[in-house]
Amino acid sequence: MENHQPLLKAVDLTVDFGSLRAVNHMNLEVQRGELVGLIGPNGAGKTTAFNALTGLIMPNEGKVFFKGHDVTHMLPHKRCQMGMSRTFQVIRPFVHLTVEDAVRVGAYNRHGERTVKSKVDQVLEMCELGEMRNRVCADLGLATLRRIELARALATEPELLLLDEAGAGLNETELAGFMKLLHRLNEEEHITLLVVEHVMKMVMGVCRRIIVLDSGEVIAEGTPEQISANPRVIEAYLGKRAVL
Ligand SMILES: Nc1ncnc2c1ncn2[C@@H]1O[C@H](COP(=O)(O)OP(=O)(O)OP(=O)(O)O)[C@@H](O)[C@H]1O
Ligand SMILES: [Mg+2]
Repeated sequence: MENHQPLLKAVDLTVDFGSLRAVNHMNLEVQRGELVGLIGPNGAGKTTAFNALTGLIMPNEGKVFFKGHDVTHMLPHKRCQMGMSRTFQVIRPFVHLTVEDAVRVGAYNRHGERTVKSKVDQVLEMCELGEMRNRVCADLGLATLRRIELARALATEPELLLLDEAGAGLNETELAGFMKLLHRLNEEEHITLLVVEHVMKMVMGVCRRIIVLDSGEVIAEGTPEQISANPRVIEAYLGKRAVL
């Protein structure tokens, strides 16, 4: 039955911080194999929605389903074992670790001592980090750290990977490389992706379907073309941050 369900589904997801409603009855479905973008102006509730979807915070109302199972109250590492992984907006590299060890931390979620090494090797190669596997994370630049964070998440063997602003702060060339990698993960590794992003170029270039949040509510959903022409979306961004 698992295969007939959306991979991820949120029903009436609501998160309050005191009197502030950060996510307001959000409904969302992601099907297997999709590459979906979640966008919205600063403070729209994107990260909060991610946190509730991945179990970092509990919603005040609503439910989250993963592969048809109600995971609303399941802890993040349990969801991870089921195949849901994420990256963080503020990179939290294990700064004192080598690249290889940082990725190994992810691999241990799913692998025992015997198979962890081959998983780490595979992911390092996929993310083009093989040559710097023995470097210490603290010595590396932002673009590489973002790749390491992605590699760490990939080492947990996700079916669904949620990326929070993974392209932020990257220059044009770095961003193009990162987009190419996401495409490959989706097409060759069959990883379903839900991508939160401010960098419009990244969303428009990578995602086939886009969901727009504003003040915690879904205000539009469609292809990149439909979204960029949607008056409600343009209005939501106007006066906030000109990224369209
Ligand atoms: N831990 C918290 N405590 C109180 N308020 C919070 C907390 N986290 C987020 N908020 C508030 O909730 C709202 C949604 O914030 P959130 O970080 O989810 O937005 P976002 O869409 O990810 O924004 P950005 O694009 O800036 O990353 C904002 O008004 C924010 O100030
Ligand atoms: Mg955010």
